[in-house]
Amino acid sequence: MLKKIKLLLLKKKYKKKIVSLTAYSKNIAKILDKHCDIILVGDSLANVLYGMNNTHNVSLYSMIQHGISVNKGINKSLFVVDMPKGTYNNSYIAKKNAKLILKKTKCEAVKIENNSKNSEIIKSLVNIKIPVMGHIGYTPQFKKKFKIEGKTKKEEKRLIRDALSIEKAGAFSIILECVTPNTAKKITNLLKIPTIGIGSSSNCDGQILVTDDILGLSGFYPKFVKKYVNLNSIIEKAVKKYSNEVKNKRFPKKNNFLYGK
Ligand code: KIV
Repeated sequence: MLKKIKLLLLKKKYKKKIVSLTAYSKNIAKILDKHCDIILVGDSLANVLYGMNNTHNVSLYSMIQHGISVNKGINKSLFVVDMPKGTYNNSYIAKKNAKLILKKTKCEAVKIENNSKNSEIIKSLVNIKIPVMGHIGYTPQFKKKFKIEGKTKKEEKRLIRDALSIEKAGAFSIILECVTPNTAKKITNLLKIPTIGIGSSSNCDGQILVTDDILGLSGFYPKFVKKYVNLNSIIEKAVKKYSNEVKNKRFPKKNNFLYGK
């Protein structure tokens, strides 16, 4: 087992919280790496970067290109890449694509969204020594409409059953997306592997958010997101200043010239 994954399991054992964020590029990954245990190239880049309506059409090629960039910024965090929709429809396809993602991006694990039927696929990847992160609750690749998961007894039972079967299949961790606090607590207590919550309360072993959301870049700020800075307005101020200086001939100055006067 990878040392970084063993460390995550120890964090769960000793009740130390696991810190995770998404990255889509080298420069951001380099900053996150100092403070995160896990960095994920999430397929949320479909919405956040490419302005798509959902994550359903992001290509494996795009995920790999962003993974190659992110890899250049990572030194110590566990590096995980999302497998996009349609790239793990059966074990054969999943193994072929996961191997390609690992080879090209040098990531250490892949993430797969749960559709209550794909724990065999997780097992087939784990069998060839590819670490897998599961993802249950609101799974955007398979759900048409946003919904908080686990409100009814029936839903809670299904989520618990799915979480246990993902753990049994050999996943090293599971993301719980928009799961009720009670259900998140039950799952976290039942599993030996760490749960990483997004919109699922503090009853998880760790947390993940989309970096562009916490930096105030994406314009997507639901209640479970905390905006730590408003980078949009900081960037706009800088761009406005640059624009004014160019128009008023205050940039470039002589000290910006590369040669001569
Ligand atoms: O794609 C993504 O960003 C995710 C979230 C859970 C962080 O899967």
